[in-house]
Amino acid sequence: MSLDDSATIVTGASSGIGEATAHEFASRGARVALAARSEDRLTSIAADLETEYGAETLVVPTDVRDEAAVEDLVDTVAAEWDGLDVLVNNAGLGRGGDVADLSTEDYRAMMDTNVDGVFFATRAALPHLAASDGNLIFVGSFAGQYPRPGNPVYSATKWWVRGFAHGVEGQSGPDGVGVTVVNPTEVRTEFGGADGDSFAERFEPGEVSEPEEIADAIGFAAAQDHSTVHEIDVYRRDKFEGW
Ligand SMILES: NC(=O)c1ccc[n+]([C@@H]2O[C@H](COP(=O)([O-])OP(=O)(O)OC[C@H]3O[C@@H](n4cnc5c(N)ncnc54)[C@H](OP(=O)(O)O)[C@@H]3O)[C@@H](O)[C@H]2O)c1
Repeated sequence: MSLDDSATIVTGASSGIGEATAHEFASRGARVALAARSEDRLTSIAADLETEYGAETLVVPTDVRDEAAVEDLVDTVAAEWDGLDVLVNNAGLGRGGDVADLSTEDYRAMMDTNVDGVFFATRAALPHLAASDGNLIFVGSFAGQYPRPGNPVYSATKWWVRGFAHGVEGQSGPDGVGVTVVNPTEVRTEFGGADGDSFAERFEPGEVSEPEEIADAIGFAAAQDHSTVHEIDVYRRDKFEGW
């Protein structure tokens, strides 16, 4: 199974799991389209991929909450690379915590990014993935598998992602599309940084997962040529301590 020459899109490629996934794909010979809002960061990461692996890249600044921008992203990549083999729906965020105190702005930020953005990208990509017998990968979360008392709305967006992904798996599997949900527990990224310390600041190396470990799982799913990797859970080893 190979990613060589695959045309791939990674949303949220400017940081964390998305950036690591872009490296994973490029190191395995894929062409990588990098999508997020931070154009400067995407441009710098693309330069790294070109230097380190000789990878072909596209930088497509995209706000996944913007339906037209997401359609442009998929159209641009499919036109430039004559199709699409892999979409990674990775862009996402968590805001706030307690429901009683959650601002409508934070609620909307999570719903618009984690739910609407995932829908827009999936809808635009599916015809291309059916044409290529490609792979559609969703970055879910442990919070989408178990209750998350610390942030019920974030958790609910990830339950939605998992539910949506498996429905799409049933609907598009017969068209040849592989669908995977990758569920991490805590990963040392910039996640959580808008509300205080990011996970990279909160956890020491070795305490929880690194983004490269999640990217490795995503790479495994993305390289499948006829099976579906239904779900991959990558947890910190002490996750169930005290349960
Ligand atoms: N870190 C964890 O512990 C953990 C655990 C389970 C699941 N996850 C999930 O993993 C995914 C990646 O998060 P991460 O941990 O790598 O965090 P991160 O380092 O904060 O990266 C988040 C990425 O999402 C992008 N993004 C946010 N809003 C966007 C928007 N409206 N349009 C386009 N891109 C947007 C950001 O780019 P821009 O700001 O440049 O747009 C950034 O590239 C998320 O779906 C998250 O829910 C994370």
